[in-house]
Amino acid sequence: MRFYRWLIPFVFTLIFALPAFAQEKAPSMFIGADGCKTCHKKEKSGAQFGKWQKARHSKAYATLASEEALKIAKEKGIGNPQKAAECLKCHVTAYNVKAALLGKKYAVEDGVGCESCHGAGSNYKKKKTMKAITAGTLDGATVGLIKPDKKLCLGCHNDESPTFVAFDYEKALEKIAHPIPKK
Ligand code: HEC
Ligand code: HEC
Ligand code: HEC
Ligand code: HEC
Repeated sequence: MRFYRWLIPFVFTLIFALPAFAQEKAPSMFIGADGCKTCHKKEKSGAQFGKWQKARHSKAYATLASEEALKIAKEKGIGNPQKAAECLKCHVTAYNVKAALLGKKYAVEDGVGCESCHGAGSNYKKKKTMKAITAGTLDGATVGLIKPDKKLCLGCHNDESPTFVAFDYEKALEKIAHPIPKK
C-alpha cells in the first residue's frame, strides 16, 4: 500500500532514536555548597569547604547588604542590591538559571559558591564519579565538572564591577587555593 510507505522510515526513526533519548543524562542541577561539604571538609582531604567559608566568595551575597553596597546602589539609582540583577549577576551562584535547575539546598546566601567555579554538581557529586575523574578514567566535562580557568574568573573580576581595582590572576589563585594534599 503506497499510502503507508511514509510509515516505514518513521517507525525506524522511533526504534533507533528512543533509546538515545532515554540514555540522555538528567540536566545538571545546582546542589549548593552544603552538597559538597560532606566530602570536602576534612583536613586530610584539603578542607576546601572551610577555606571557602572563611574567605570572601562565600560572603558575596552578604556583602550586598553592607553599607558600601547600599552607597554604590544609591549612586547608581538601584534599589536593594540583594535584589538587583546589576549586582547579583556576579555576587551569587547560578544567577539567572531556570528555577527547575536549582536543587533543594541551593542557597543564594552561599554567594559565589563551589558551583560558580566547578559547575552544577548533581551529576558529578557521587564519590565513585569524583574518584574516577581524579583518577583520570572519566572526563569531568561529561558530568558537568568545569575546570576553572582565568577566563572564568574574568567573567566577574572585570571593570563592570563597581569596586574593581585590578585582577592579578596568579595572585588571586594563590589567595583562594584549596588543593587536595598530595598523598
Ligand atoms: C561569579 C562571579 C565570580 C567568579 C567566577 C570569581 N569570582 Fe572572585 N570574587 C567575586 C566576588 C563578588 C568577590 C567579592 C566578594 C565579597 O567581598 O563579598 C570576589 C572576591 C575574590 C577574591 C578576594 C578579593 C581580593 O581581591 O582579594 C579573590 C582573591 C578572588 N575573588 C579570586 C578569584 C579567582 C582566582 C577566580 C577564578 C578561579 C574567581 N575569583 C572567580 C566574584 C567571582
Ligand atoms: C562584573 C561583576 C560584578 C558586578 C556586576 C558587581 N560586582 Fe561587586 N564585586 C565583584 C568582585 C569581583 C568583587 C571583588 C573584587 C573587586 O572589588 O573588584 C566585588 C566586590 C564588591 C564589594 C566589596 C568591596 C570591598 O573591597 O570591600 C562590594 C560592596 C560590592 N562588590 C558591591 C556591588 C554592588 C552594590 C553591585 C551592584 C550595583 C555590584 N557589586 C556589582 C564583582 C561584581
Ligand atoms: C560523596 C562525596 C563527594 C561529594 C558530595 C563531592 N565530592 Fe568532590 N571529590 C570527592 C572525592 C573522593 C574526590 C577525589 C579526591 C581524591 O582522590 O583525593 C573529589 C574530587 C573533586 C575535585 C577534583 C577533580 C579533579 O579534577 O581531580 C573537585 C574539583 C571536586 N571534587 C569538587 C566538588 C564539588 C564542587 C562538589 C559539590 C558540588 C563535590 N566535589 C562534591 C568526593 C565528593
Ligand atoms: C572562585 C572559584 C572557586 C570556588 C568558589 C571554589 N573553587 Fe575549587 N578550585 C578552583 C580552582 C581555580 C581550582 C584549581 C584548579 C586546577 O588546579 O586546575 C580548584 C580546585 C579544587 C579542587 C581540586 C584540588 C586539587 O588539588 O586537584 C577541589 C576538590 C575543589 N576545588 C573543591 C571545591 C569546593 C568543595 C568548593 C566549595 C566549598 C570550591 N572548590 C570552591 C576554583 C574555585
